[in-house]
Amino acid sequence: MAKDSLTVTDNRNGKTYEFPIEHGTVRAMDLRKIKTSEEDFGLMAYDPAFTNTAACRSGITYIDGDRGILHYRGYPIEQLAEHSTYLETAYLLVKGELPRRENLEAFVHNITHHTMLHENIKKFIDGFHYDAHPMGILVGTVGALSTFYTEAKLIFDAESRRVQTHRLIAKIPTLAAFAYRHSIGMQYAYPDNDLSYTGNLLNMMFKMTELKYRPNPVLERALDVLFILHADHEQNCSTTAMRCVGSSQADPYSATAAAAAALYGPLHGGANEAVIRMLMEIGSADKVPAYMKRVKAGEMRLMGFGHRIYKNYDPRAKIIKEIADSVFEVTGRSPLLDVALELERIALADDYFVSHRLYPNVDFYSGIIYQAMGFPLDMFPVLFAIPRTAGWLAQWTEMLLDEEQKIARPRQTYSGPPMRDYLPVDERPE
Ligand code: CMC
Repeated sequence: MAKDSLTVTDNRNGKTYEFPIEHGTVRAMDLRKIKTSEEDFGLMAYDPAFTNTAACRSGITYIDGDRGILHYRGYPIEQLAEHSTYLETAYLLVKGELPRRENLEAFVHNITHHTMLHENIKKFIDGFHYDAHPMGILVGTVGALSTFYTEAKLIFDAESRRVQTHRLIAKIPTLAAFAYRHSIGMQYAYPDNDLSYTGNLLNMMFKMTELKYRPNPVLERALDVLFILHADHEQNCSTTAMRCVGSSQADPYSATAAAAAALYGPLHGGANEAVIRMLMEIGSADKVPAYMKRVKAGEMRLMGFGHRIYKNYDPRAKIIKEIADSVFEVTGRSPLLDVALELERIALADDYFVSHRLYPNVDFYSGIIYQAMGFPLDMFPVLFAIPRTAGWLAQWTEMLLDEEQKIARPRQTYSGPPMRDYLPVDERPE
């Protein structure tokens, strides 16, 4: 009997099976060999919400949730946050290695020169209601890009994938900023190719009448670090949407629209917005204990706390907390910070949160920083979508090149009525 194997006995008939164990997994398809008769379909694994199912092998992001560890392509997130830039990290994610200087310069140049949108995209954005949520606008318009770049359908052509990857990373800040300017009734500010990736986003968001927008370097760098932290997070809900839709061989713009839609929800990328609304509802540090009581009574969840994978302090939250001070030196201290710190202090000492292993996640402090920088709440999930685009594209490419992958198609166990005959409308029972 092989050492790396699992022996299973089916107690229905006493038969024994041996399955190989690889990378801490057994193949779900091996279970199908477990049958009580020739006609039997075989066993399946039942796993709602995929809580214990590895759907792919991935070489992109490594997380050890128990120890609070996050690596991109082997590099610890702390080192990337300290030494890298968002575009260098995006390169690492989509190409697999950190670039040499000339490759980085070419990549930055390529991204910088794809930031413009076709003028017709502005007409779509103009069509949205004046108070449309910018994330809704982003989901709609990023999908619409596929109609402008019809060669994006050539998903097995490496050159086409390269160009669409550059276009998506480059254009998503422009879409995001235009969505915001539309929602406040301001004319669009065009990209400025002299500026860095995040400096240009600040320009497109906040430029008023000045001839040249000059981003504050502290805020520009803080946003860049936040973007590094959000760039990928292995098989989360939106990445799974990207891979699922991509597996049908849809173009990357359509798949990115699906991923962004998944990110919109309050349990995922919408949580940073929900955290601020929660902190504003609490109002002041002295009201935190009463709020915590309601959370523990099950009335609501503590937004920005808990994670499917991290059962320890989210390493990204730790880094964000550290950069908050540099941001507040420029913007002034947010009054919500005191509420957040008190919430964290009480939660980390409280039995309920300790026993449920609930710690602050990436969204707990990011919203306070975004708000201090002047971003409106509605833009928070959009600020998550912009950097995550690189991660989505890296995962999409990996999925396409993985010979084991096919169109994603989970199974179900049927729990509806057994076969019955159709009755004419007047003969149906009450
Ligand atoms: N506040 C209070 N209780 C919680 C919380 C919370 N934030 N999160 C989980 N729990 C409790 C939950 O009630 C359950 O308790 P019990 O076992 O007694 O019924 C237990 O912890 C397990 O919860 P779960 O819903 O089974 O855990 P999950 O892994 O399905 O959910 C989560 C993960 C992130 C959706 C959840 O923790 C949550 O809703 N957090 C608040 C929203 C949030 O901050 N989301 C951002 C996630 S990080 C960024 C991202 O990836 O998008």
